[in-house]
Amino acid sequence: MNEKHTPSVSNPRSVEHIITGQPTSDGAGVKLTRVITQNLQRRLDPFLMLDNFGSDNPNDYIAGFPNHPHRGFETITYMIAGRMLHEDSKGNRGLLENGGVQWMTAGRGVFHSEIPQQEEGVMEGFQLWLNLPAKDKMCAPWYRDFTNADLPQFTTPEGVAVTVIAGNSHGVEGAVSREGTEPLYLDLHLPAGSQFVQNLPAQHNAVVFVYRGEVKMSGQTIGDKRMAILKNEGDGVVLEATAGAKVLLIAGKPLNEPIAQYGPFVMNTEQEIRQALQDFREGTLA
Ligand code: CO
Repeated sequence: MNEKHTPSVSNPRSVEHIITGQPTSDGAGVKLTRVITQNLQRRLDPFLMLDNFGSDNPNDYIAGFPNHPHRGFETITYMIAGRMLHEDSKGNRGLLENGGVQWMTAGRGVFHSEIPQQEEGVMEGFQLWLNLPAKDKMCAPWYRDFTNADLPQFTTPEGVAVTVIAGNSHGVEGAVSREGTEPLYLDLHLPAGSQFVQNLPAQHNAVVFVYRGEVKMSGQTIGDKRMAILKNEGDGVVLEATAGAKVLLIAGKPLNEPIAQYGPFVMNTEQEIRQALQDFREGTLA
């Protein structure tokens, strides 16, 4: 797919803060780095969590994420390397592998499991949690799998390979769009010496996560495995790669609604959390 137009940015955003993720484990002991942690949910509204898992040691991932519930938001899993089988309470089943994306809207409730289908080799990827507007939190669950070939992709004249998971870049429409949160989710592979430009409304919250190499933004370096929170300013983002780099550019429109989280349930009020727990105990969540 060719890009339709190259945007121009006259007043690029700069870096507000650089985050080093928190090493943690989740599921049945999968080791991962939590890059968007709970204390950043307000600042990075509508994003609730970003995990980066990556290991060539099977002990770090083999047990996977056995059956567990969600309510009130969306999970987007992007698998860079490895194979993971998803199964959920709505009867969806999909193998997620090598550059594929799974987008799940939990809505009023879903149970799912994510289990590695490999006993050796590298497993690497990301899971992003995207909040739902209050009016959609109890919507019917929705699910889609995209293989890497299904995802809209283009290469800029400078040779930057762009995968548009969500939103719009250079006129190319992403795999998924959402009205309330207007998410932009790009995977960018930048060759040495290249620049990438993306328009972005100043009020949208945005981060850049570097998962290979390093990039520069307005003169500031974002190093390997670091996430930059971008200032809410200007008319877009300009990334420069001195050496080759791979980065995620993620942005969205803040909901500005109360956030109440208890583990895998994210609602607006404590009362709604109590209801989710009651539905979970009574077997009526999903
Ligand atoms: Co889950």
